[in-house]
Amino acid sequence: MKKILVTGGTGYIGSHTAIELISKGYQPLLIDNLSNSKIERLDQIQKITGVRPEFVQVEMCDGAAMRSLFQAHPDIAAVIHFAAVLQVGESVENPLFYYRNNIVSTLNLLDCMKEFKVKPIVFSSSCTVYGNPDSLPVTEFAPIKEAVSPYGNTKKMCEDILRDTSKATDIDVISLRYFNPIGNHASAEIGEEPHGIPTHLIPYLTQTARGIRPHLNIFGGDYATHDGTCIRDYLHVVDLAKAHIAAIERQLSKKQEKQYEVYNIGTGIGYSVLDMVQAFEKATGKAVPYQIVDRRAGDVEAVYADTSAASEKLGWKAELGLEDMFRSAWDWELKLEH
Ligand code: UFG
Repeated sequence: MKKILVTGGTGYIGSHTAIELISKGYQPLLIDNLSNSKIERLDQIQKITGVRPEFVQVEMCDGAAMRSLFQAHPDIAAVIHFAAVLQVGESVENPLFYYRNNIVSTLNLLDCMKEFKVKPIVFSSSCTVYGNPDSLPVTEFAPIKEAVSPYGNTKKMCEDILRDTSKATDIDVISLRYFNPIGNHASAEIGEEPHGIPTHLIPYLTQTARGIRPHLNIFGGDYATHDGTCIRDYLHVVDLAKAHIAAIERQLSKKQEKQYEVYNIGTGIGYSVLDMVQAFEKATGKAVPYQIVDRRAGDVEAVYADTSAASEKLGWKAELGLEDMFRSAWDWELKLEH
């Protein structure tokens, strides 16, 4: 059983990935500082898989603590790096915190990988690096645009750090540029737990359908899209988790061709915000009152992925559709206490 270090392992995507790793016979070692997730995730993962993953609470910005972790676990075969602070608005208000946290943690991790000779790393990047793309669907060759937020910039900077490190060391990097992950594990045991008023579309939408919010505010109705609202490529978080397994397996089976590889992880299909509202209502039978309000600063008009590289090189394709995404998001919403 190969041991895979998962940073941010109790978070939304990290915990879904831990489940997929366990189901594929890997031994995930989860680390997290629990600043944005709860230790109960371990119970939930155990309930779903029958296995309680090993967990260490560690502050990745503490270099000595990271060294001790690697010293205590000489059998780490590969790393999946999710840990990051990720609220766009908060990053605009507190850029130093965002840069320090997301960059220093990555530097400490890479220092340890170099020292303890752990070569493969899969990095959690984002389609945010493309900004407003010049053509759609966007491929991995599209130019990287100036980031609109410090959060987005940390993703770009971490990609640069990883690329340069891969050139100078024998560390092998796969950066996965996620589009918009939504939904939850079908068991409704784990899911996204937004703090306070949600900023992402789906938690806001499910809270509105539940009556917690009076209506969904749709940001902008005058974009140059088929119905005037923004277009995104929404993918199921379980499909996204599986993309990490595909990337790790490419690395561990020595199939990685370049020391730095990057893949778009999306479905390839763009839906507008209004399409999403209608599809949610159809999948769940619940009405979502909405209002069209002003555009939100920093939103791109439309972005969806060209997924051919992921399909060709990782052998990965999204399998779940909007209905699965919405059913699981709704089942999870009904379990949350607000
Ligand atoms: N939206 C609304 N109302 C809401 C929330 C969102 O209309 O209450 C719209 C947004 O304007 C956008 C779409 O729904 O058109 C999706 O918005 P999200 O906030 O759910 O996701 P984003 O596309 O803004 O976020 C993505 C990634 C983030 C990343 C961000 C950076 O999911 O991790 O891009 O630009 F930070």
